[in-house]
Amino acid sequence: MLWGGRFEEEPDRIAFEFSSSLKEDILLIKEEILCGKAYAEMLCRIGIITNIELNSITEALSSIQSEYDNKLWNPDPKVFEDIHSAIETRLYELLGETAGKLRAGRSRNDQVVTSVRMWTKKSAVNIINLLSNLQNSFIKTAELHVETIIPGYTHLQHAQPVSLAHHLLAYIEMFERDKERFSSVINSADNMPLGSGALAGSTLPLDTNYLKEKLGFNSLCNNSMDAVSDRDFVIDFLNSCSIGMMHLTRFCEEIIIWSTSEWKFAKIGDSFTTGSSLMPQKKNPDIAELIRGKSARVFSNYQSVITLMKGLPLTYNRDMQEDKHSLFSSYSIYSDSLKLMKGMFETIKFDNTHLLSLMKKSTILATDAADWLVLKGIPFREAHDIVGELVKYCLKNEKGFADLTIPELKQINSQFDESVLEVFKLENSLCRKKTPGSPNPKFVKEQISTWKSILSF
Ligand code: ARG
Repeated sequence: MLWGGRFEEEPDRIAFEFSSSLKEDILLIKEEILCGKAYAEMLCRIGIITNIELNSITEALSSIQSEYDNKLWNPDPKVFEDIHSAIETRLYELLGETAGKLRAGRSRNDQVVTSVRMWTKKSAVNIINLLSNLQNSFIKTAELHVETIIPGYTHLQHAQPVSLAHHLLAYIEMFERDKERFSSVINSADNMPLGSGALAGSTLPLDTNYLKEKLGFNSLCNNSMDAVSDRDFVIDFLNSCSIGMMHLTRFCEEIIIWSTSEWKFAKIGDSFTTGSSLMPQKKNPDIAELIRGKSARVFSNYQSVITLMKGLPLTYNRDMQEDKHSLFSSYSIYSDSLKLMKGMFETIKFDNTHLLSLMKKSTILATDAADWLVLKGIPFREAHDIVGELVKYCLKNEKGFADLTIPELKQINSQFDESVLEVFKLENSLCRKKTPGSPNPKFVKEQISTWKSILSF
């Protein structure tokens, strides 16, 4: 125990177990050991410990890490309150009195937030890399489908033709925004809190700049009270995980729909689907469903920490210990989901012929027909009405635009002539798009090559 001095009674056993955070913060062991070593070096530089003491502390901290890695030391949450006390106790067993010197000027309040900031930065970098890997897979598939026409939807109704590549590039944009969000998480976590002590700094001449450099932080926290009580970077991280998961669920939903017998756009590989114990014909998109389902926990982790922090007076309050459960849970779900999404995506086979045949009998080129009339000088409002008539005719006669003959078209409106037939050819539709960012294969190819150079492959 780190604080027994002024107490006469032992803590209640259940209360102690209730308050132990070791099950969670054991995940911070690497950061704790790094901080311990840097802190010892700094204490030596300012003359609080000797070189000999520094060497023995550094060695002991390294051996605690390797004992843990080799499963020789596994502190019990029933015995230790948190990772800080567990490490200090082990250090004391290894070094005796010298171990206690490492506490000078440090409180668990600044200690825990330093480790959490380091963990958050490291994890945000991992997430950014996973997002880049996923972008790579999407780009590689997009490259194969610049000319693969699929229906674009609004309200889940056929709207206008797009290419599969264009559709996938929309996700690349989302993933890029996710990466930007995690970069800004790194910024918000990049201030070093040590030296703030419990809340009000230290009378010891602690060299915080040395610690900042040694621990790889960009700058120091400006205010000792804010330093120990700020968890905004945790909330930023959880918010970024939530938005990232929300993006994944949108693709999951699409792939679930696309792989139905009704839609038949695509098939997910066997390795990312499951069968039914009862219905032998079933092939279920469970991984996509589970990513969609697990997003609920990620969203609630964000909710949980913002609620946790609401109304807390300055500075450190024990409530804040609960941040770690949410933080680690969201990271684990989101990083697993990113890996699984990549694996699953790479097994998806798209059925190009079926995709094209789907739109043959359709009126999905209605907007293009209206644009054709506009180019003939007809106001769009009127063009919209004329094409509306055309759609009505097609629906009544079970025809697609491509099936219409000139006499039929002229009967609906005399302004139609031969040249409109070109507009009704699905294969031409994408090339006619003029605006950048549209599915015109020219723009799509440009974007793919830009992404390839950004992602360097
Ligand atoms: N386990 C605590 C946490 O994660 C560490 C800080 C405890 N500080 C204290 N004054 N009890 O927040």
